[in-house]
Amino acid sequence: MSDGVDWLERLVEIEPPQPSEVIQEYDKRFQQEPQIWSDPEHDEYVYRILEHFCADMGRPLAGELLDLGCGNGHTLRYLADSSKGALSLTGLDFSAQAIKIAKSQAPAAQLYCADFLTWDIGRRFDFIISLGVFEHFRNPRAALRKATSLLKEQGIFYLEVPNCLWHGWSGRREGFRRHRGGSDQLEWHLRRSSWGRLIADANLYVVAAIRGPTPWTEFTWLLSNSSWAEASQFPELDRFCQVQWRQARPRRIRHFRNIQKQRLKVVLQTVLGRLGLLGFARKFTQRI
Ligand SMILES: C[S@@+](CC[C@H](N)C(=O)[O-])C[C@H]1O[C@@H](n2cnc3c(N)ncnc32)[C@H](O)[C@@H]1O
Repeated sequence: MSDGVDWLERLVEIEPPQPSEVIQEYDKRFQQEPQIWSDPEHDEYVYRILEHFCADMGRPLAGELLDLGCGNGHTLRYLADSSKGALSLTGLDFSAQAIKIAKSQAPAAQLYCADFLTWDIGRRFDFIISLGVFEHFRNPRAALRKATSLLKEQGIFYLEVPNCLWHGWSGRREGFRRHRGGSDQLEWHLRRSSWGRLIADANLYVVAAIRGPTPWTEFTWLLSNSSWAEASQFPELDRFCQVQWRQARPRRIRHFRNIQKQRLKVVLQTVLGRLGLLGFARKFTQRI
């Protein structure tokens, strides 16, 4: 029976520090590793998805695009090069360090340093993309609603969040916590179905639930603020996704093997550590 407490609130395991401290964390990451999270193959994937979707809808990939949580601007740079001026690009991030790098990498984009939840841009977008950002909002529902309000009519929102339940070491338990054993960020670890609930709460419609560039580690959707495209067929998009899925097979197998090795390492270290043999365990598992 419901006790009136929101299901999402129940899952909060840790309250984030003050926003200024979270921003500092990101500034530090971008200072230490300016190209962190850059991945041209991934950028190409996003571009191709939008391109094939637009082809299916019989419209050009053109108009105003926002990269929400753009980080160092690698995706904006890719989009600027590929769209050849057809996309007018905007990037937003609350890390000043990230925006500084983005300014040098993607000079064609308009860049804003602000917290998305309080950002007042005063205009709307034909496309919003967001890669690995929404899982970090303490209130992802409010953030999704804000994204809905920034879409033009028939606008498209490419949303990608990592499958943190797969990445992390926290088992299959959903929650808002600091990710251990990975990037060490504060984030939501939610199932695809829970993200689906939040998407529906934000009055967003799933236009296409796609598999993502490395589908076992991400959840990816094309969303819209109205049901205009829901019933449409996407032959180009479907074909592209199928080819991607086939091509990703060797990487997928390698990835699964690595994960199994990491898990074996942790189990061995835990068991041998309990027997007082941690030194031996570390040496032994170095070869795994
Ligand atoms: C994991 S990084 C992903 C960056 C980029 N999308 C990429 O793929 O490289 C998350 C980004 O979200 C930004 N971010 C997190 N919370 C934010 C907020 N409330 N407002 C604006 N940016 C935020 C961080 O500064 C960081 O650059």
